[in-house]
Amino acid sequence: MRILSGIQASGSLHLGNYLGALKKFADMQSLEAERFYMIADLHAITVWQDPGKLLSQTREIAACYLAAGVDPDKSAIFPQSAVPAHTEMAWLFNCVARLGWLDRMTQFKDKAGKDKERASIGLYTYPVLQAADILIYKATHVPVGEDQRQHLELTRDVAKKFNHDYGTDFFPLPETLYQGPGARIMSLRDGLAKMSKSDPSDNSRINLTDDADTIASKVKKAKSDADVLPEAEDGLAERPEAKNLVGIYAALAGISAQDVLNEFGGKGFGAFKPALADVVVGKMAPISETLRRLLNDTGEIDRVLKLGAERAREVSAPVVEETKRIVGLWG
Ligand code: TYM
Repeated sequence: MRILSGIQASGSLHLGNYLGALKKFADMQSLEAERFYMIADLHAITVWQDPGKLLSQTREIAACYLAAGVDPDKSAIFPQSAVPAHTEMAWLFNCVARLGWLDRMTQFKDKAGKDKERASIGLYTYPVLQAADILIYKATHVPVGEDQRQHLELTRDVAKKFNHDYGTDFFPLPETLYQGPGARIMSLRDGLAKMSKSDPSDNSRINLTDDADTIASKVKKAKSDADVLPEAEDGLAERPEAKNLVGIYAALAGISAQDVLNEFGGKGFGAFKPALADVVVGKMAPISETLRRLLNDTGEIDRVLKLGAERAREVSAPVVEETKRIVGLWG
């Protein structure tokens, strides 16, 4: 089993990133596996990044991995740009992926907006680089949030087409792990919008850097509704805010949404929100404290990144070499 995942180096992380990704990385450490967790700085620059901030954003994501409990002795944590195989393989895969596949990518449509003529070419071929990220390690498992599903399907398509075109079974088809109540955390202000770094309202999300008081106050202000919580999960179907808050409780407490309703069914948000605030503060405040401490220790972060990059280069370089040989390039 070989696990790979990544987080973009573009601004600070929130509860959605924690539950969709970081928490899974920490939980999966008990499995017998090799682990690669990158900071996707090359993905970040597909939209403008201030060069004066990119490096500190990269270190901040590294600190988030560590604060969330990812152990650098068990996992390689590294900046994508420190491993040349990512960009080298991305070119080879640009010649495998089809234009029609990229035209269907909803994330490009969302991010490019109406003025797609002005979007960078990198933003368009972004999913091809992501396929390279995964396949240069021959990763078998990729833990991500639900929003990455389409990109992971494209990765499998690239692997399948490469194997088919070159008559080989060189690339394994990676399995996407996005199950569980944390896979899609919604905004605290709107149960129909994803919790996101780019939401202008800071109250829409819990940042990994928020302290205990801020977290508690955001939970208490979270949008809810006037009904009591239902006894069974299907009673949440038409109540996006209630569904999201129950999901957050379940994901953080490591129980199912039904378990939460067994305890809180029939009770209103006046009773549920303080209990939820306790759970969120209990799990997130220690992470935020560790994070703030680590952010002051760039020496330690750089040491982890250097070690991680060495390991990542060691594993990925021979995969690119072998791919070039299969393609028939002089090497
Ligand atoms: P990024 O940086 O947008 O998000 C990092 C991880 O957080 C998850 N996530 C969420 N999960 C649940 N609820 C939410 N509201 C939420 N918001 C974000 C994302 O699903 C992701 O797992 N393209 C990727 C980075 C990447 C990558 C890779 C991932 C580059 N190469 C290779 C896996 C494998 C991205 O932009 O994630």
